[in-house]
Amino acid sequence: MAEARPFHWEYRPEPVAREIFRIEGGRPLSGTVRVSGAKNAALKMLAAAVLTGERCRLTNMPEIEDVRVMAETLRDLGVVVDHPAPNVYEVAAGDVDWLFVPLEAAAKMRASFMLLGPLLTRFGRVIISNPGGDRIGRRPVNLHVDAMRALGARIEYRNGYYFAQAPGRLRGAMVTFPFVSVMGTENAMLAATLADGHTVIRPAAQEPEIDDLIAFLQAMGAEVERTAPDVIEVEGRRRLRGADHHVIADRIEAGTFVVAAAVTGGQLTLEGAPCEHLGAFLDVLGAVGVAVACGRDTIEVIGSPPAERAYRACDLVTAPYPGLATDLQPPTAVLLTQAAGESHIHEAIFEDRLEWLAELGRMGARVTIDDPHRATVSGPSRLHGAEVSIGDLRAGASLILAALAADGTTLIHGAHHVHRGYENIEGKFLDLGARIERLAEGSPVTSS
Ligand code: EPU
Repeated sequence: MAEARPFHWEYRPEPVAREIFRIEGGRPLSGTVRVSGAKNAALKMLAAAVLTGERCRLTNMPEIEDVRVMAETLRDLGVVVDHPAPNVYEVAAGDVDWLFVPLEAAAKMRASFMLLGPLLTRFGRVIISNPGGDRIGRRPVNLHVDAMRALGARIEYRNGYYFAQAPGRLRGAMVTFPFVSVMGTENAMLAATLADGHTVIRPAAQEPEIDDLIAFLQAMGAEVERTAPDVIEVEGRRRLRGADHHVIADRIEAGTFVVAAAVTGGQLTLEGAPCEHLGAFLDVLGAVGVAVACGRDTIEVIGSPPAERAYRACDLVTAPYPGLATDLQPPTAVLLTQAAGESHIHEAIFEDRLEWLAELGRMGARVTIDDPHRATVSGPSRLHGAEVSIGDLRAGASLILAALAADGTTLIHGAHHVHRGYENIEGKFLDLGARIERLAEGSPVTSS
């Protein structure tokens, strides 16, 4: 049974247990690491499971904070969410008491907005907090809202909340986005599965996590298909059934470990690794000169030892899939600090994804932020330990990579952010020979 937990109707930011990573760098990593399930698939599976009253069983779910928050958000609505074993979640949304997703959830995680489509299409109404509200920074959701309106929903925005209603059922429609959005595509697709009639989503995002979500929906009895690379079509059904699904591997976590081997001059084998989803990233590795071999579901990386290093500078631009993932841009930037020459990074998706490079600079990287979307990295640099802090999980994981490659000790404040998206990251690095520990903020620590 779901555990009872106080439901906060008002927004009360919970005190976060702030943590620090303490890392002694300069040791090549070696060994084998298993890649966990993909965060950005797992979160959507939990949302999709409320499309049916029957029980859904999800395996290979990553044990991360964001999944825990999504599960807790569902429990607050009255959905039964069981966690019978590590990496396994079961969801039974027979009874949903509250069609309300509070700011408490939205403030913790933007992906809470993924509940809009499923709750609206199944129950005909929902009140959901805007994760783009002024209170927590600019994160637009206009594409999601427009997609629901195209499907016939009436949506009003008041006091930070969207009040969404679907008189009768949503109805199938053409959903046309002005540009590609991952969660916009997913929300539209989930809503369309129970709508009356045929929906065409265009341009649909092409991320592998979306195809994994399509596979889960098909197992639930939904009629949904990618009919062209950037088109998803859905024929609405009256009801869906429970299903089992095994979540795909996390390509971003895999890329993070590949860079760990490359920058420490180590040798790693990644198991359960999704080589086929890493095409653009593997192209960058090839250009930089990192030796990578893809097996059936393994990736082997042989990093070049620092003394003999011959990595080459490379220009990169992030793009929607199949382009280079914006989530892999920060780890790749760490790799470029070890490459000879000037590398240019163009972060084309997000505006706030380069600021963390200032922290990398404190570790000896030569980086200039040219504008909110562009940076230049000059290398190679000998990184050294420093005291740095992180504000989001991808930057956090990347500072860990830099610290593993650096001489001396690094203290990374804000370590708890990393646990939002990486399962047991320090345990995995410890098994590969890293010297990393996680400490509560305020513990006696020393930096060198
Ligand atoms: N955008 C709008 N309006 C919208 C939605 C998006 O203007 O209604 C803009 C965004 O501001 C951005 C662009 O569209 O500039 C593309 O954003 P997208 O909607 O594709 O991103 P997302 O769905 O919010 C997901 C991942 C992100 C990942 C991006 C891009 C999840 C939970 N999040 O976000 O993952 O970076 O796609 O691939 O799936 C992460 O895991 O660290 C992470 C941030």
